[in-house]
Amino acid sequence: MVIVGCQWGDEGKGKIVDVLAEDVDVVARYQGGANAGHTVHVGDEEFILHQIPSGILHPEKRCLLGNGVVLDLLQFFEEYDALRDRAIDLEGRVGVSHRAHLLLPYHRELDRAWEEGSAEKIGTTGRGIGPAYEEKAGRRGIRVADAVDAERFERLVTEGAERARDRIEQLGGTVGEGFDRALDESLALRGRILELAVDVGLEVEGALDDGRRILLEGAQGTALDLDHGTYPFVTSSNTTAAAAATGIGVGPTRIDSVLGIVKAYTTRVGNGPLPTGFDPEMDERMRELGGEFGATTGRPRRCGWFDAVLSRYAARVNGLTGVAVTKLDVLDTLPEISVCTGYRTPRGLVEEFPADTHGLEDVEPVLETHPGWESPTTEARSLDDLPVNARRYLDRLQELTRAPIEMVSVGTRRSQIIHVR
Ligand code: GDP
Ligand code: IMO
Ligand code: MG
Repeated sequence: MVIVGCQWGDEGKGKIVDVLAEDVDVVARYQGGANAGHTVHVGDEEFILHQIPSGILHPEKRCLLGNGVVLDLLQFFEEYDALRDRAIDLEGRVGVSHRAHLLLPYHRELDRAWEEGSAEKIGTTGRGIGPAYEEKAGRRGIRVADAVDAERFERLVTEGAERARDRIEQLGGTVGEGFDRALDESLALRGRILELAVDVGLEVEGALDDGRRILLEGAQGTALDLDHGTYPFVTSSNTTAAAAATGIGVGPTRIDSVLGIVKAYTTRVGNGPLPTGFDPEMDERMRELGGEFGATTGRPRRCGWFDAVLSRYAARVNGLTGVAVTKLDVLDTLPEISVCTGYRTPRGLVEEFPADTHGLEDVEPVLETHPGWESPTTEARSLDDLPVNARRYLDRLQELTRAPIEMVSVGTRRSQIIHVR
């Protein structure tokens, strides 16, 4: 099963993966890097996972990083060691693809230089994602498999760093303090990463043949997909479900189902259009209610009503077989809740998500307003436990999205979940 974000990321993928991980054997990430921030609550503890799959908090589940990710060596081992320090047993549980590209300190420096030097800023997470995928596509990238030969590895990293320095100078920037030390630290991790290197596609294929169950965990969301999102305000990978096959190294015919994660409202962090965005007062209110601050960068997330034009698009481009709605409880106190069913544009009503990103800045959302339920949903464990207006709201989201709701999340805890079917 593929788990995919259906908005602009931060839909609550981490929480849903953690809940579903109980019943699977392997959880694998297929794209992105340390730009992701997936939050999981276990008891009173909070974990924010950036690169290690969200199945890691269940003992004995195997967690893999596929060829489609850009693996930030320094951040990866920082995260790995931090989990171990919190008494998570990682022995034999984490594997990384030989074919995954390495994200090195100079990619972060380049990311910063591009952002500082450009008039139209993307508002990236500053994690070096764009430059790392650029080098991959440009066939100048360095893969985990390149670490096998120490001498060659050092040469490739040194050449990469030199290339980056030149580029950063051209962009009018300079590399940050501690750059050379970070490079040395990266080179020193060569042995450690090789110990974890496996053929992820082969391992997943074998596990499937043995009848084991696999979750493929997406990062970011559909509207941040390099091809299908609000380009250029997107991330540099394909986030949508089909990328799970290429990013792991299995054929698309091995995927049985695609679960789309949607928040009961919309958020966005970074630049680019948000058609259902609130006015400043309501924006502030929702940010407080939902705790909408970036899990990776701490930046405030912009908030807006649920956008059914986007969710329907996500259902189509991901081929969703089901939907999980998260953060329903965040709407518990609102007297009225709106849903966007279309966009009014100078050229008439639009009901399909448009390719024209700049035009999207000016659309006026067509809103349909529903009465709120004004009572807590956090203790609900079945649809029958929900207030009638909450059920009506969910029915409407399902109807507009055109995919069946399979799960509803009503809080951060594992137990705060409704399994619909
Ligand atoms: P991800 O990147 O898609 O994994 O999502 P994030 O972790 O970045 O953001 C989701 C935030 O909402 C996290 O702080 C979660 O703990 C929290 N969260 C997830 N599901 C729920 C829910 O059903 N209710 C509430 N109140 N919070 C939730
Ligand atoms: P998770 O997996 C929300 C956004 C950035 C920026 C754009 C490009 O936690 O949902 P990048 O650093 O990828 O080059 O930034 O994408 N972005 C995310 N927004 N959640 C994420 O991940 C994101 N990862 C990147 O804010 O707008
Ligand atoms: Mg996140």
